[in-house]
Amino acid sequence: MGYLHFPSMAALLFGFCVAVALIPEFAEGRTRHYTFNVKYHNVTRLCSTRRIISVNGKFPGPRIVAREGDQVLIKVVNHVTDNVTIHWHGIRQLRTGWADGPAYITQCPIQTGQAYTYNFTITGQRGTLFWHAHISWLRATLYGPIIILPRRNESYPFVKPYKEIPIILGEWFKADPEAVISQALQNGGGPNVSDAYTINGLPGPLYNCSSNDVFKLKVKPGKTYLLRLINAALNDELFFSVANHTLTVVDADAVYVKPFNTSILLITPGQTTNVLLKTKPNFPNATFLILTRPYFTGIGTLDNTTGAAILEYENPLSSTSTASSIKTLPLFKPSLPPINATQFVNVTQFVQNLANKYRSLASTKFPANVPRTVDRRFFFTVGLGTHPCAKNSTCQGPNGQKFAASINNVSFVLPSVAMLQSHFFGQSNVLYKTDFPTKPTVQFNYTGTAPNNTNVSNGTRAVVLQFNTSVELVLQDTSIIAIESHPLHLHGFNFFIVGQGFGNFDQNKDPAKFNLVDPVERNTVAVPAGGWVAIRFLADNPGVWFMHCHLEIHTSWGLRMAWIVQDGWQPNQKLPPPPSDLPKC
Ligand code: C2O
Ligand code: CU
Repeated sequence: MGYLHFPSMAALLFGFCVAVALIPEFAEGRTRHYTFNVKYHNVTRLCSTRRIISVNGKFPGPRIVAREGDQVLIKVVNHVTDNVTIHWHGIRQLRTGWADGPAYITQCPIQTGQAYTYNFTITGQRGTLFWHAHISWLRATLYGPIIILPRRNESYPFVKPYKEIPIILGEWFKADPEAVISQALQNGGGPNVSDAYTINGLPGPLYNCSSNDVFKLKVKPGKTYLLRLINAALNDELFFSVANHTLTVVDADAVYVKPFNTSILLITPGQTTNVLLKTKPNFPNATFLILTRPYFTGIGTLDNTTGAAILEYENPLSSTSTASSIKTLPLFKPSLPPINATQFVNVTQFVQNLANKYRSLASTKFPANVPRTVDRRFFFTVGLGTHPCAKNSTCQGPNGQKFAASINNVSFVLPSVAMLQSHFFGQSNVLYKTDFPTKPTVQFNYTGTAPNNTNVSNGTRAVVLQFNTSVELVLQDTSIIAIESHPLHLHGFNFFIVGQGFGNFDQNKDPAKFNLVDPVERNTVAVPAGGWVAIRFLADNPGVWFMHCHLEIHTSWGLRMAWIVQDGWQPNQKLPPPPSDLPKC
């Protein structure tokens, strides 16, 4: 037997080694398969039941867990009447633009009864991201965490946490969010606001009829917990705080940062951050509220409620810490910045100071590869505006007009066929134009007195970049209608936030202050209310990449555009053809 076996084992082993060398997936990571059944499902919150659209009957949706280097395949099956797409927010999608997900940008939607398998590999990222629907307002209930662990034999550049807990913030509407947005677009006014903020899908005890819908973070004394925070809310930047506990920020948008301590965080829609929570050394004989409420810089109505969860210590003395014994413990409450408008300036300054604390880790292992030279400069104004009201109708937006939003005065209109498809097959010229303005066509005092004419133009226009172009982009808020913070999200890339400030950007003075050493690297940045932010990125990923405000209402009003990054010369710099199951329009 041994005599017969030996040569065949050697042959097998040889064959195996060749296979390992030839199949990159095998050498780099594993392949993970998921099936997402998009279905209806009834959910009761605040004493009212609503049919929501969710994944696999779960709300918030299931977690995607993978390691850096893994390939992820998610088969999304649409069992509802709405068209659906899913976006893997923050995943770089290197040469897999077909799997990015924004409807009519990289794919046509998945229609009822159809399926599409998203296929991508996670490269050079570790931390927390999230997935969400990317069509209309379906992401109100269609979202869930993406957890990217370091490669198998690598560790975190910080103390190994005892436990890791995803905490996903959201907004709950008693009404159907699809009805909310369609009504707003019809009458031109602001949309109805949400009824509650949720923490892991639960509003918490500060709302009527919600005392049982509370997320409890159960901890042991003397341990370090990693909280994976995600803001999946539709329209609100959210403060987050845990009573009597300091948080150590270690990661932002799946990139390590220089650790810093804070008791209050601000997370915009589209942002994610990992924080360490060190529990008290001994059982504290108390419970602690975890609160989330909005940072609001806009005009009009706001959901000014507070979502809450509870940090509960396991009592080492009673093996069964009963609900009643916990209820008798004192409950501490964190203090959050006021929503009060008179405090506005202070709060905005506070938010800006907080934003300035984020710095890239910039270690030898995790360098900050900031583009040092710039090939192309862009200056984009972002903000609100109006569209005229149709004749013989009444509109509820500013001055009886319709609300709009734009970048460089272009309110972006989605095409009828996915741009990436038109681009790849060279059928671009009819469905979109490549003349997106690189700077405002009319210059004015952007944050001063607004011009009388607040109308914006409509268009499906993109910027074309050659492969490997190094880009500097200044995003400037405007005071048209009102100044407001805009969390801008770029698909397909991370960017470095090299500078930010209040007022108008000054090309002569401000660049001297740019941080090219350790700027934070993210996929979503808040353009300060009445201010500007400068970012840099290297266009090393061929495809069509959406950029938009992650306040869903602003996106709906047109605060969005697309970058087209052309193929490079090398075979590994080209976008492969679409998968055969890519949905058709
Ligand atoms: Cu999280 Cu284009 O979105
Ligand atoms: Cu916005």
